[in-house]
Amino acid sequence: MQPVNIWDYERLAEEQLDANAHAYYAGGAGDEVTLRDNVAAFERRKLRPRVLVDVEAVSTKTTVLGTEVALPILIAPLAMQRMAHPEGEEATARAAAAAGTIMCLSSAATCAPADLAADGPRWFQVYVWRPRSQTETAIEEAVAAGYSALVLTVDVPYIGRRERDLRVDFKVPEHLTVQGDLFGAGFDATVSWRDLEWLAGYGLPVVVKGLLTAEDAELACEHGAAAVVVSNHGGRQLDGVPATLDVLEEVVDAVDGRAEVLLDGGVRRGGDVLKALALGARAVLIGRAMLWGLAVAGEEGVTDVLRMFQTETELGLALLGCTSPDDVSRAHVR
Ligand SMILES: Cc1cc2nc3c(=O)[nH]c(=O)nc-3n(C[C@H](O)[C@H](O)[C@H](O)COP(=O)(O)O)c2cc1C
Repeated sequence: MQPVNIWDYERLAEEQLDANAHAYYAGGAGDEVTLRDNVAAFERRKLRPRVLVDVEAVSTKTTVLGTEVALPILIAPLAMQRMAHPEGEEATARAAAAAGTIMCLSSAATCAPADLAADGPRWFQVYVWRPRSQTETAIEEAVAAGYSALVLTVDVPYIGRRERDLRVDFKVPEHLTVQGDLFGAGFDATVSWRDLEWLAGYGLPVVVKGLLTAEDAELACEHGAAAVVVSNHGGRQLDGVPATLDVLEEVVDAVDGRAEVLLDGGVRRGGDVLKALALGARAVLIGRAMLWGLAVAGEEGVTDVLRMFQTETELGLALLGCTSPDDVSRAHVR
């Protein structure tokens, strides 16, 4: 079967992956209420199309932190991509570069920051490990390799309780080397807002990923964040928090133009992207959608997933009565 949408890739990936890897990639925390709600929130919102607008020329191009991207869809940081495909993060990075978008490399990747092809823009996601020198070494490598932003993930002082992993007794396959310390001494749970200044010291824009409230959005701005990502870690951390789409507007209002606002969680369709843009996101990031493509067909799979998003977003813009992401306004969704 030739996949025609992301759901097809999701099914094919489940067939392709072993139970260990599938549990890790697909699972969320607790009862997975938040995991499901991320997707359901997009279904609850409805688009409000405008008609008789000249939409002969439509472009999905936009900018994120000043970088031109061909579509308002970035690659979210996802750990251990070599468990999905032998070429792992390197395949994802090539596909992202070819599609003209930004790849964010995880701190818990199965390749080092310097190993990722520099054909396209790359961001480095930061987990703060104990000891901190381990994190600093990775950041220094990313800075030297030309990464253009540091993305501090703030929703993991401890790893969430993911019951699918417990049921399969999840293990990192022995042939893989994981960067950082995901399953060792682990995360530095003392990290606080003050540490944004430490990160800013590397001279790159700092993106705060994983906040869900106006209060934290305000603090992120006060501490100089260039962008925030409204994210609940794909439902993998605290179960019972809202779907990201449901709190996007609250965060956008609090930020009030001081930083760019991005969103991830549950994005599976071009229409989802439009709803996020209408509620004030500059762009979205895709996690599992990209991963299913990688698992099924490596670089070609990620390329195909990005192509699907591009096609759906472009057609969606036209049918919404918009010629570019910038045209999408609050009035385009209810
Ligand atoms: C298997 C898996 C691994 C992830 N690893 C990381 C990570 O290493 N660092 C991080 O900041 N976020 C990580 N995330 C969260 C993603 O960056 C993103 O927030 C989430 O996948 C978005 O939801 P979606 O999968 O519904 O698109 C991971 C998510 C998944 C599903």
